[in-house]
Amino acid sequence: MKTFYLDLSQFLSYNRFMKILAIETSCDETSASVVEIKKNKKQPIFFILSNIVSSQIKIHQPYGGVVPELAARQHLKNILPIIDQSLAQAKVKPSQIDFISVVDRPGLISSLLIGLQTAQTLAYVWQKPLIKVDHVQAHLYANWLSSQKINFPALGLIVSGGHTQLILITNNFNFKIIGQTLDDAAGEAFDKIAKMLNLGYPGGPVIQKISQKGNPNKFNFPRALMTTKNFDFSFSGLKTSVLYKIKDLKQQKYNLKKITPDLAASAQQAIVDVLTYKTIKAAQEYQIKTMMLAGGVAANKYLRQQLGKKIENILPQVKFLAPDIQLCTDNAAMVAVAGYFKFLKNK
Ligand code: KG4
Ligand code: ZN
Repeated sequence: MKTFYLDLSQFLSYNRFMKILAIETSCDETSASVVEIKKNKKQPIFFILSNIVSSQIKIHQPYGGVVPELAARQHLKNILPIIDQSLAQAKVKPSQIDFISVVDRPGLISSLLIGLQTAQTLAYVWQKPLIKVDHVQAHLYANWLSSQKINFPALGLIVSGGHTQLILITNNFNFKIIGQTLDDAAGEAFDKIAKMLNLGYPGGPVIQKISQKGNPNKFNFPRALMTTKNFDFSFSGLKTSVLYKIKDLKQQKYNLKKITPDLAASAQQAIVDVLTYKTIKAAQEYQIKTMMLAGGVAANKYLRQQLGKKIENILPQVKFLAPDIQLCTDNAAMVAVAGYFKFLKNK
């Protein structure tokens, strides 16, 4: 296949606008976005011209989780209309796009392939360069969409349905994983606990909502690995503990529906406590200047509030950032930013 190169020297020497078309299909959201970048002397400034997200939640809801085959079929049906819509909303023609950015890992392989092959085909037909990016890192880059200035070293906490990672960021493109989950991801814990409580899928938003009516101190669920020196996490013990508590309450003939808000609030509290504790510890050890939250679970208002408050009290010199709520869950705008920095790095 022919390779198309972008004239980087031209981009670096002029303060011109650059436009990226980004595509995201790693799980159950089909998304396309056009992001415009103004190269400022110090920091690039990102403008979202469009960010169309087509969620498949309703299709997967009856199964209590994402069904890979159904997800791939849906991506196939949606991908071209979503890209058309994204270009139309941005009022951008394919000829005005500088390059295409697409997620190629990690995720559901059959879903990833739809986005990747579409991007490869468009890149070939339109004769544009193609940049492939990592989905997990792209989540972190969502913070660049909401904030103009990020000081390094920075710490990123990525909490999604598939990953929980603490990442040390030493400049715009150097990411080092300093801790991660040894089993379930934080989002997975929310989803599985919601399933046990018959709250439906996805679990995070519904647990957040029902927790507002519950007592977070009613049940003392385990907070794993709090005394270890490293920054790893584990959420499978919490999940098992909630399962046994439900069984126990049922045996004791408790009204489970009545006590569900307390169970949800106590589980959410355990997750937030562990995430907050480990993040503060890592922030202290690496003497960071900026703390960034990212991933679907970053949409959790209680986590944002608790982490923000703790940082303000314990590390007032650290700037706390979290993406806008709609940029926390899967979307293509974050993929555009990740592609932009990869393009700069690989010049
Ligand atoms: O980043 P994301 O959209 O997809 C993955 O890359 O996995 O994250 C999805 C996860 C799901 O587990 C979902 O339950 C969780 O993010 N989530 C939340 C909230 N909104 C989404 N978890 C807690 N509170 C929320 N408000
Ligand atoms: Zn994601």
